[in-house]
Amino acid sequence: MAVKKECIRILDDHTIEINLPNEMGYERIAMACSASFAKIVGFSPDRIEDLKTAVSEACINAMEHGNKNDPDARVFITMHYDDHIFSVSVMDQGEGMGNSSESLEEPDIEKKILNLQTPRGLGIFLIKQLVDHVEFNQITDEGHMVRMILKIAG
Ligand SMILES: Nc1ncnc2c1ncn2[C@@H]1O[C@H](COP(=O)(O)OP(=O)(O)OP(=O)(O)O)[C@@H](O)[C@H]1O
Ligand SMILES: [Mg+2]
Repeated sequence: MAVKKECIRILDDHTIEINLPNEMGYERIAMACSASFAKIVGFSPDRIEDLKTAVSEACINAMEHGNKNDPDARVFITMHYDDHIFSVSVMDQGEGMGNSSESLEEPDIEKKILNLQTPRGLGIFLIKQLVDHVEFNQITDEGHMVRMILKIAG
């Protein structure tokens, strides 16, 4: 059986890079790292929970939609903070989401509970609600990236 390894590198005091296998469950490593890092930065427990959920949704999307569940693909996460912002970039090896992030129908939670709307389609909505700013569909030489930003209160 192929060994799946995650790799976490502290590039400097303000920057951490994580390289994950494209397998459901490994997003928890990114969640835990982002939580620890955000604690160092001084975020409140509530804000850390928001961040963990946003990171998890972005990583699962990267694995499922970006890397199309390819077991050989990887997900790269970079976290960085300066005096004003804490950012998390989640990169996959796919071609991006076109205008999915803008054209998505707003989820109707009541309809979802009543089974009148697909239970899926919550990830992007949640990310938009939980972080201060998000840039979807950033295409780079290495792949597609979602960049999420949380403001650090002065
Ligand atoms: N990294 C990505 N690469 C390509 N397409 C993406 C990516 N992330 C999201 N998408 C597209 O945007 C759509 C909406 O994503 P969203 O996370 O809101 O819902 P979902 O993943 O379909 O369901 P859920 O997150 O509720 O389980 C996806 O169905 C997919 O078409
Ligand atoms: Mg999703």
